[in-house]
Amino acid sequence: MATKRHATDNFTVTQAAHLLGLSAETLRRMDRRGDASPSLRHGTRRIYTQDDISRLRDLVSGRKRKACTTIALVNQKGGVGKTTISINLAGALATQGHRVLIVDFDPQANCSFGLDVLWNDVEASIADVIGYETSGPSRTLGEVTRPTIYHPNLHLAPSHLNLAAAEMMLHNALGREMKLDKAIDSVRNDYDFIFIDAPPSLGLLSINAMVASDAVLIPIDGAFSLEGVRQLLHTRKGCAELSRHPIHVLGGVLNRQRLITSNATVILEMASSIFGKRMFQTVIPERTAVDSSTAARFPIVFTGETEAEPYFFLADEVVRNLSELTSS
Ligand SMILES: Nc1ncnc2c1ncn2[C@@H]1O[C@H](COP(=O)(O)OP(=O)(O)O)[C@@H](O)[C@H]1O
Ligand SMILES: [Mg+2]
Repeated sequence: MATKRHATDNFTVTQAAHLLGLSAETLRRMDRRGDASPSLRHGTRRIYTQDDISRLRDLVSGRKRKACTTIALVNQKGGVGKTTISINLAGALATQGHRVLIVDFDPQANCSFGLDVLWNDVEASIADVIGYETSGPSRTLGEVTRPTIYHPNLHLAPSHLNLAAAEMMLHNALGREMKLDKAIDSVRNDYDFIFIDAPPSLGLLSINAMVASDAVLIPIDGAFSLEGVRQLLHTRKGCAELSRHPIHVLGGVLNRQRLITSNATVILEMASSIFGKRMFQTVIPERTAVDSSTAARFPIVFTGETEAEPYFFLADEVVRNLSELTSS
């Protein structure tokens, strides 16, 4: 028989984290930042009271929640880290109590794979939402979205090779740039953040991703990935004119840097000349553990490994920069 809890029961950090759907490390990190301190401490041990849990539940479930923010990860160059950052940034925010959806909008479906969903196993995908047959779309975004196995706050709308066919169909469709934006409208109230992992091209899928978003985040890994960025930013402007809302440049993020070389400094200077102050301070180092975690379908942010730290820093920066953008 389950033991009855009393109103006076206190909780350890592990128990409190479990109740709140967070990891113990996230709760400790929130405490260190000063937003979620327990009422009691015995030496270094944190003791959470029932009242603390209620207070934190409000904080975590976000009763004072702001509207959903949709962020597209775009860069027409492949291999720069769009998918890896989408997964780990979304994962980091989910462990911090935000409700997060990732839309895998690349027919290669790498993002779905990284989140343990194989495109040939999915019964319905984002391709069914956009429509790849002449009969048109057959599903809503909510219908194809599923929880992930890693965290209850992290959901995925998986992709499928059929999304390539959907992109072809889009060419002749009315309102072809707005399809994803319209599809997302039906789920915006269910999430704090929606991330769209765009494909490595500047075609209609990336345009749909930008039109659907409030802000774009652009991963870069070297001089070649910067080449197309001016064009990308120009396309973003066009998308903003088409859409019914502003599309901010949330920032450029430097990925896969080997810290021993001075190359990162050179690239950072080049990137800053394009992004100005919209360059993220977090630089993501090249780490084998990150690469292997994606291949093993176990995102680094859920492993507790130290290599996950940059993604948590990036998540903090995203939240900070967004509040600056919306208050300016
Ligand atoms: N910080 C990193 N350290 C090491 N490997 C990384 C890192 N970020 C991404 N990768 C690897 O680089 C490859 C390309 O990354 P990916 O996220 O798929 O890029 P994109 O989505 O832009 O094509 C993948 O194999 C991924 O695991
Ligand atoms: Mg990708």
